Amino acid sequence: MSDLLTQYQIIPDRVPQHVAIIMDGNGRWAKQKGHLRIFGHRQGVKAVRAAIESAAEIGVKYLTLYAFSTENWTRPEQEVNALMELLVDTIESELPTLMKNKIKLATIGDLTKLPKKCQTQLDKTKAKTAENDGLTLVLALSYSGRWDIIEAVKRIGIEVKEGKLAPEDINDGILDKALNTSCFPNPDLLVRTSGEQRISNFLLWEIAYSELYFTPVLWPDFAKDDFYKAIVDYQGRERRFGKTSEQIA
Ligand code: FPP
Repeated sequence: MSDLLTQYQIIPDRVPQHVAIIMDGNGRWAKQKGHLRIFGHRQGVKAVRAAIESAAEIGVKYLTLYAFSTENWTRPEQEVNALMELLVDTIESELPTLMKNKIKLATIGDLTKLPKKCQTQLDKTKAKTAENDGLTLVLALSYSGRWDIIEAVKRIGIEVKEGKLAPEDINDGILDKALNTSCFPNPDLLVRTSGEQRISNFLLWEIAYSELYFTPVLWPDFAKDDFYKAIVDYQGRERRFGKTSEQIA
Protein backbone atom coordinates (compact mmCIF):
# COMPACT_ATOMS: atom_id res chain seq x y z
CA MET A 1 0.00 0.00 0.00
CA SER A 2 2.77 2.49 0.85
CA ASP A 3 4.33 1.95 -2.62
CA LEU A 4 1.05 2.84 -4.21
CA LEU A 5 0.66 5.93 -2.05
CA THR A 6 4.14 7.08 -3.06
CA GLN A 7 3.65 6.26 -6.73
CA TYR A 8 0.51 8.37 -6.96
CA GLN A 9 1.57 10.90 -4.31
CA ILE A 10 -1.49 10.14 -2.22
CA ILE A 11 -1.38 11.61 1.29
CA PRO A 12 -2.14 8.68 3.64
CA ASP A 13 -3.96 10.64 6.34
CA ARG A 14 -6.13 12.47 3.81
CA VAL A 15 -7.61 9.46 2.04
CA PRO A 16 -11.39 10.02 1.78
CA GLN A 17 -13.34 7.77 4.11
CA HIS A 18 -16.26 7.45 1.69
CA VAL A 19 -16.16 7.65 -2.11
CA ALA A 20 -19.38 7.52 -4.13
CA ILE A 21 -19.39 6.94 -7.88
CA ILE A 22 -21.95 7.58 -10.63
CA MET A 23 -20.76 4.98 -13.14
CA ASP A 24 -21.80 6.48 -16.47
CA GLY A 25 -21.01 5.90 -20.14
CA ASN A 26 -21.37 2.13 -20.62
CA GLY A 27 -23.83 2.58 -23.48
CA ARG A 28 -21.72 5.19 -25.30
CA TRP A 29 -18.59 3.08 -24.84
CA ALA A 30 -20.32 0.10 -26.50
CA LYS A 31 -21.79 2.22 -29.30
CA GLN A 32 -18.38 3.72 -30.12
CA LYS A 33 -17.12 0.18 -30.61
CA GLY A 34 -20.13 -0.92 -32.68
CA HIS A 35 -21.54 -3.19 -29.96
CA LEU A 36 -24.86 -3.49 -28.14
CA ARG A 37 -25.27 -1.51 -24.90
CA ILE A 38 -25.12 -4.65 -22.75
CA PHE A 39 -21.55 -5.22 -23.96
CA GLY A 40 -20.71 -1.89 -22.31
CA HIS A 41 -22.34 -2.99 -19.06
CA ARG A 42 -20.31 -6.23 -19.13
CA GLN A 43 -17.12 -4.24 -19.56
CA GLY A 44 -18.40 -1.97 -16.79
CA VAL A 45 -18.15 -4.88 -14.37
CA LYS A 46 -14.38 -4.94 -14.93
CA ALA A 47 -14.24 -1.25 -14.00
CA VAL A 48 -16.31 -2.03 -10.88
CA ARG A 49 -13.70 -4.59 -9.87
CA ALA A 50 -10.87 -2.10 -10.50
CA ALA A 51 -12.61 0.62 -8.46
CA ILE A 52 -13.19 -1.73 -5.52
CA GLU A 53 -9.55 -2.87 -5.57
CA SER A 54 -8.24 0.69 -5.86
CA ALA A 55 -10.42 1.88 -2.99
CA ALA A 56 -9.48 -1.05 -0.74
CA GLU A 57 -5.77 -0.70 -1.48
CA ILE A 58 -5.52 2.89 -0.23
CA GLY A 59 -7.79 2.43 2.79
CA VAL A 60 -11.10 3.94 1.64
CA LYS A 61 -13.68 2.60 4.12
CA TYR A 62 -16.90 3.00 2.11
CA LEU A 63 -17.43 2.83 -1.64
CA THR A 64 -20.95 3.52 -2.90
CA LEU A 65 -21.74 2.65 -6.52
CA TYR A 66 -24.85 3.91 -8.35
CA ALA A 67 -25.63 0.64 -10.13
CA PHE A 68 -29.34 1.10 -10.93
CA SER A 69 -31.52 4.15 -10.36
CA THR A 70 -35.30 4.24 -9.89
CA GLU A 71 -35.37 6.00 -13.29
CA ASN A 72 -33.42 3.13 -14.95
CA TRP A 73 -36.60 1.00 -14.77
CA THR A 74 -37.86 2.98 -17.78
CA ARG A 75 -35.08 1.59 -20.01
CA PRO A 76 -35.96 -1.08 -22.63
CA GLU A 77 -37.04 -4.30 -20.90
CA GLN A 78 -34.26 -6.29 -22.57
CA GLU A 79 -31.58 -3.96 -21.13
CA VAL A 80 -33.14 -4.00 -17.65
CA ASN A 81 -33.27 -7.82 -17.67
CA ALA A 82 -29.69 -8.06 -18.89
CA LEU A 83 -28.52 -5.68 -16.14
CA MET A 84 -30.30 -7.72 -13.47
CA GLU A 85 -28.75 -10.95 -14.78
CA LEU A 86 -25.34 -9.31 -14.80
CA LEU A 87 -25.84 -8.18 -11.23
CA VAL A 88 -26.81 -11.66 -9.98
CA ASP A 89 -23.95 -13.36 -11.88
CA THR A 90 -21.37 -10.82 -10.72
CA ILE A 91 -22.34 -10.95 -7.05
CA GLU A 92 -22.31 -14.74 -7.14
CA SER A 93 -18.95 -15.04 -8.90
CA GLU A 94 -17.30 -12.31 -6.82
CA LEU A 95 -18.16 -13.80 -3.42
CA PRO A 96 -14.75 -15.51 -2.94
CA THR A 97 -12.99 -12.21 -3.77
CA LEU A 98 -15.19 -10.31 -1.33
CA MET A 99 -14.41 -12.83 1.41
CA LYS A 100 -10.68 -12.92 0.65
CA ASN A 101 -10.43 -9.14 0.83
CA LYS A 102 -12.76 -8.80 3.85
CA ILE A 103 -15.21 -6.67 1.88
CA LYS A 104 -18.68 -6.26 3.33
CA LEU A 105 -21.60 -5.89 0.91
CA ALA A 106 -24.39 -3.46 1.71
CA THR A 107 -27.22 -1.99 -0.35
CA ILE A 108 -29.40 1.11 -0.50
CA GLY A 109 -32.60 1.37 -2.52
CA ASP A 110 -35.95 -0.30 -2.91
CA LEU A 111 -34.82 -3.91 -3.24
CA THR A 112 -38.44 -5.14 -3.27
CA LYS A 113 -38.62 -3.88 -6.88
CA LEU A 114 -35.76 -6.20 -7.98
CA PRO A 115 -36.41 -9.70 -9.38
CA LYS A 116 -36.67 -12.36 -6.63
CA LYS A 117 -33.44 -14.01 -7.82
CA CYS A 118 -31.55 -10.74 -7.33
CA GLN A 119 -33.03 -10.19 -3.88
CA THR A 120 -32.06 -13.71 -2.79
CA GLN A 121 -28.52 -13.39 -4.11
CA LEU A 122 -28.08 -10.01 -2.43
CA ASP A 123 -29.48 -11.25 0.90
CA LYS A 124 -27.19 -14.29 0.80
CA THR A 125 -24.09 -12.25 -0.02
CA LYS A 126 -24.85 -9.56 2.57
CA ALA A 127 -25.28 -12.24 5.24
CA LYS A 128 -22.06 -14.04 4.28
CA THR A 129 -20.00 -10.84 4.24
CA ALA A 130 -21.64 -9.25 7.31
CA GLU A 131 -18.66 -9.88 9.61
CA ASN A 132 -16.03 -8.62 7.14
CA ASP A 133 -14.26 -5.57 8.50
CA GLY A 134 -12.49 -4.17 5.44
CA LEU A 135 -14.08 -1.92 2.82
CA THR A 136 -17.88 -1.64 2.85
CA LEU A 137 -19.19 -1.81 -0.71
CA VAL A 138 -22.59 -0.14 -0.93
CA LEU A 139 -24.58 -0.90 -4.08
CA ALA A 140 -27.33 1.60 -4.87
CA LEU A 141 -30.04 -0.47 -6.55
CA SER A 142 -33.45 0.80 -7.56
CA TYR A 143 -32.31 3.85 -5.64
CA SER A 144 -32.81 7.57 -5.94
CA GLY A 145 -32.12 10.35 -3.48
CA ARG A 146 -35.67 11.71 -3.68
CA TRP A 147 -37.16 8.24 -3.14
CA ASP A 148 -35.07 7.80 0.01
CA ILE A 149 -35.96 11.25 1.36
CA ILE A 150 -39.69 10.68 0.76
CA GLU A 151 -39.58 7.28 2.49
CA ALA A 152 -37.68 8.83 5.41
CA VAL A 153 -40.22 11.64 5.72
CA LYS A 154 -43.03 9.05 5.78
CA ARG A 155 -41.28 7.18 8.62
CA ILE A 156 -40.79 10.43 10.56
CA GLY A 157 -44.44 11.35 9.90
CA ILE A 158 -45.58 8.10 11.51
CA GLU A 159 -43.45 8.82 14.60
CA VAL A 160 -45.03 12.27 14.85
CA LYS A 161 -48.54 10.85 14.36
CA GLU A 162 -47.95 8.28 17.11
CA GLY A 163 -46.80 11.02 19.46
CA LYS A 164 -43.23 9.63 19.70
CA LEU A 165 -41.65 12.69 18.12
CA ALA A 166 -42.50 16.39 18.35
CA PRO A 167 -42.36 18.22 14.96
CA GLU A 168 -40.13 20.92 16.49
CA ASP A 169 -37.57 18.22 17.40
CA ILE A 170 -37.04 17.22 13.76
CA ASN A 171 -33.46 18.07 12.79
CA ASP A 172 -30.58 16.90 10.55
CA GLY A 173 -29.84 13.95 12.82
CA ILE A 174 -33.43 12.67 12.74
CA LEU A 175 -33.49 12.68 8.94
CA ASP A 176 -29.98 11.14 8.78
CA LYS A 177 -31.22 8.22 10.87
CA ALA A 178 -34.38 7.70 8.80
CA LEU A 179 -32.50 7.37 5.50
CA ASN A 180 -31.27 4.15 3.87
CA THR A 181 -27.76 5.57 4.24
CA SER A 182 -28.02 5.91 8.04
CA CYS A 183 -25.22 3.39 8.68
CA PHE A 184 -22.66 5.18 6.51
CA PRO A 185 -20.84 8.50 6.82
CA ASN A 186 -21.61 11.09 4.14
CA PRO A 187 -19.44 10.77 1.01
CA ASP A 188 -16.28 12.88 1.07
CA LEU A 189 -15.86 12.55 -2.68
CA LEU A 190 -18.43 12.02 -5.44
CA VAL A 191 -17.07 10.94 -8.83
CA ARG A 192 -19.04 10.91 -12.09
CA THR A 193 -17.62 9.46 -15.28
CA SER A 194 -18.47 10.08 -18.97
CA GLY A 195 -18.30 13.89 -19.00
CA GLU A 196 -21.85 14.48 -17.73
CA GLN A 197 -21.88 17.05 -14.94
CA ARG A 198 -25.02 16.37 -12.96
CA ILE A 199 -26.13 14.44 -9.88
CA SER A 200 -29.02 12.46 -11.42
CA ASN A 201 -30.93 11.97 -8.17
CA PHE A 202 -28.03 10.29 -6.32
CA LEU A 203 -27.48 10.80 -2.56
CA LEU A 204 -29.12 14.26 -2.64
CA TRP A 205 -29.11 14.77 1.13
CA GLU A 206 -25.75 13.14 1.79
CA ILE A 207 -23.61 15.11 -0.69
CA ALA A 208 -24.29 18.52 0.88
CA TYR A 209 -20.56 18.97 1.54
CA SER A 210 -19.01 16.32 -0.72
CA GLU A 211 -16.30 17.28 -3.17
CA LEU A 212 -17.46 16.67 -6.75
CA TYR A 213 -15.14 15.25 -9.41
CA PHE A 214 -16.17 14.89 -13.06
CA THR A 215 -14.08 13.03 -15.61
CA PRO A 216 -14.67 12.51 -19.35
CA VAL A 217 -13.50 8.88 -19.08
CA LEU A 218 -16.34 6.46 -19.91
CA TRP A 219 -17.04 4.00 -17.11
CA PRO A 220 -15.70 0.82 -18.83
CA ASP A 221 -12.37 2.65 -19.33
CA PHE A 222 -12.20 3.93 -15.73
CA ALA A 223 -9.02 2.26 -14.49
CA LYS A 224 -7.06 2.33 -11.24
CA ASP A 225 -5.05 5.27 -12.54
CA ASP A 226 -8.24 7.28 -13.01
CA PHE A 227 -9.42 6.42 -9.51
CA TYR A 228 -6.15 7.56 -7.97
CA LYS A 229 -6.19 10.73 -10.10
CA ALA A 230 -9.57 11.57 -8.55
CA ILE A 231 -8.15 10.96 -5.06
CA VAL A 232 -5.16 13.23 -5.68
CA ASP A 233 -7.45 15.95 -7.03
CA TYR A 234 -9.63 15.60 -3.90
CA GLN A 235 -6.59 15.91 -1.67
CA GLY A 236 -5.76 19.25 -3.28
CA ARG A 237 -9.12 20.73 -2.28
CA GLU A 238 -9.78 22.80 0.80
CA ARG A 239 -12.93 21.57 2.56
CA ARG A 240 -14.38 24.47 4.48
CA PHE A 241 -17.87 23.22 5.42
CA GLY A 242 -19.12 26.82 5.34
CA LYS A 243 -16.23 28.17 7.44
CA THR A 244 -13.44 30.53 6.31
CA SER A 245 -9.99 29.39 5.18
CA GLU A 246 -8.51 30.95 8.33
CA GLN A 247 -10.83 28.97 10.60
CA ILE A 248 -9.84 25.73 8.87
CA ALA A 249 -6.11 26.48 9.20
C1 FPP B 1 -24.51 3.80 -16.82
O1 FPP B 1 -24.14 3.74 -18.16
C2 FPP B 1 -24.46 2.50 -16.17
C3 FPP B 1 -25.52 1.86 -15.59
C4 FPP B 1 -26.88 2.41 -15.58
C5 FPP B 1 -25.38 0.54 -14.97
C6 FPP B 1 -24.08 0.29 -14.25
C7 FPP B 1 -23.90 -1.16 -14.15
C8 FPP B 1 -22.71 -1.82 -14.24
C9 FPP B 1 -21.42 -1.13 -14.34
C10 FPP B 1 -22.67 -3.30 -14.26
C11 FPP B 1 -23.16 -4.04 -13.06
C12 FPP B 1 -22.78 -3.46 -11.75
C13 FPP B 1 -22.41 -4.15 -10.66
C14 FPP B 1 -22.24 -3.40 -9.40
C15 FPP B 1 -22.15 -5.59 -10.67
P1 FPP B 1 -25.23 4.12 -19.24
O2 FPP B 1 -25.91 2.87 -19.66
O3 FPP B 1 -26.13 5.18 -18.71
O4 FPP B 1 -24.34 4.69 -20.40
P2 FPP B 1 -24.71 5.84 -21.44
O5 FPP B 1 -24.98 7.08 -20.63
O6 FPP B 1 -23.47 5.96 -22.27
O7 FPP B 1 -25.90 5.37 -22.21
